[in-house]
Amino acid sequence: MTDNRSVAALPGDVNPLRHGRRISRSPDPCTMVIFGGSGDLARRKLIPALYSLSRRRLIPGGFTVLALARSALTDDGYREVLRQWADGSAEGGRADPETWQPFADGLHYLSANYNDPGVYPQIREALARFDRMRGAGGNRIFYLATAPSDYAGIIRNLGNSGLARECVDGAGWVRIIVEKPIGRDLDSARRHNEEVNAVFSEDQVYRIDHYLGKETVQNLMVFRFANGIFEPLWNRQYVDNVQITAAEDIGVGTRGGYYEEAGALRDMIQNHMLQLLTLMALEPPPDFAPNSVRDEKAKVLRSIRPFSPAEARANSVRAQYGPGFVGGRPIPGYLDEKGVSPSSRTETFAAVRFVVDNWRWAGVPFYLRTGKNLSKRVTEIAITFRCTPHLIFAEAGAERADANVLALRIQPDEGITLKFNAKLPGQAMSVRPVNMDFRYGTTFGPHLASAYERLLLDCMLGDPTLFDRADSVEAAWRIVMPILEGWAAGQGPLPTYASGSWGPAEADELLLKDRKRWRLI
Ligand code: NDP
Ligand code: BG6
Repeated sequence: MTDNRSVAALPGDVNPLRHGRRISRSPDPCTMVIFGGSGDLARRKLIPALYSLSRRRLIPGGFTVLALARSALTDDGYREVLRQWADGSAEGGRADPETWQPFADGLHYLSANYNDPGVYPQIREALARFDRMRGAGGNRIFYLATAPSDYAGIIRNLGNSGLARECVDGAGWVRIIVEKPIGRDLDSARRHNEEVNAVFSEDQVYRIDHYLGKETVQNLMVFRFANGIFEPLWNRQYVDNVQITAAEDIGVGTRGGYYEEAGALRDMIQNHMLQLLTLMALEPPPDFAPNSVRDEKAKVLRSIRPFSPAEARANSVRAQYGPGFVGGRPIPGYLDEKGVSPSSRTETFAAVRFVVDNWRWAGVPFYLRTGKNLSKRVTEIAITFRCTPHLIFAEAGAERADANVLALRIQPDEGITLKFNAKLPGQAMSVRPVNMDFRYGTTFGPHLASAYERLLLDCMLGDPTLFDRADSVEAAWRIVMPILEGWAAGQGPLPTYASGSWGPAEADELLLKDRKRWRLI
């Protein structure tokens, strides 16, 4: 059953063609069961995204949420807490009564322990009630917004209770959304994939990497494959190096406990940053069908040269933030953060030099760096092209011309900049780099749909293109495992960097070995 209300077209919604046919952007009504519905992720990302979809009329009226957590709350109590969250959120926008009330009517809360198998019949009963009262049509999404260590138990309980099964008459679909991190190493990721695939078929599983939902990340494919002029340059003949930066100007905040188990390599590089690398490096897929794109991404992961532990140490840097200042505010060092062991060796900064061994990219280094409490928040992919083979203006006074750089700014200040050389006006033949700029804000207006809006809607629509496949998750772990092993074997002192800086000196040295520098952003 579909809701036939007219859908206002907004820039963030453009995607009328998928798989060569026109599809409706309004999904079937469904119920989303959020395990961990009172946690940080639900509060900051999921509920604001759902509210935004609802106020933009992109999800049907019968859409229902069943949030599950142990805290004692009633439906009304939960709605009130959510309203306050929505008001304080940058993502969904303030709750206004006209759009909030219909959304809030669909919010329900179950105070329960999800490790208790006795809870699942209660969930079943609630789902049946929503099917009757709100026309949810037997369609369900189970969202695991819980500690990753709890995924296996919940999945088993969903299987044993029969809730994972789709209706035999095809009247209702069942999907599960799994949050990153998927495992904390290759073995645990494999185990997780086996556990989830023992209960759900692969096409029911939606593994979220929210970077894939960002408009600017999706635009990478359009930029490359809807323009004729860039792709011919997109290879080892013209590209000197690629730098992918994901810098954050915040520390671990309240997530010290989680971060102690993760660190920058597991938290950012194994997933978000390798996604950016694959989209940057992949071959043109034959079409935009989910598996065409995912197959090409998997091939890139398979082409990344595997390190031995010793090579991993030579091609990577890790460090931890010490005290410092970010934006003029004094910041404590990582070891003084809540939930962090005073002798922790967890890295809050990681930089890696990868090589993609295929015909297109052989010999082109891909430098990735990420860190917490760095100088500013910026995520970008910078492609530095080879310099001109010969400069004809040298005798006329111009001694050098900078390499051209194409910078794809993922966030904030989303856009694309091309740096090229121009003649400085005047008598002399002086050459100076200048920028050509495209900014999302000025071209498309200020509102970009949040990554979670896009991904939640895609899951409701049954479109897995922007979700991760089990094989790619494992391939990404295969790439980072030697680095983790190399680091574990090296017991030297862990480098530190001042909060508010651009990371440790060792990161600069990593590039200096190749006679290169990190781009100044
Ligand atoms: P939180 O610790 O903030 O939330 C955990 C939730 O689970 C709470 O609602 C908690 O509520 C509930 N919970 C814990 N134990 C039980 C139990 N036995 N039975 C029922 N409910 C329980 O975690 P986050 O929201 O930060 O993270 C959730 C997942 O999302 C993690 O896998 C994380 O890695 C991932 N993630 C988070 C991001 C973020 O920005 N926060 C970003 C990307 C991924 P109560 O205590 O009331 O039971
Ligand atoms: C999450 C990481 O997956 O991504 C966080 O767990 C990190 O540590 C966040 O802060 C960054 O996301 P974004 O969208 O702010 O770049």
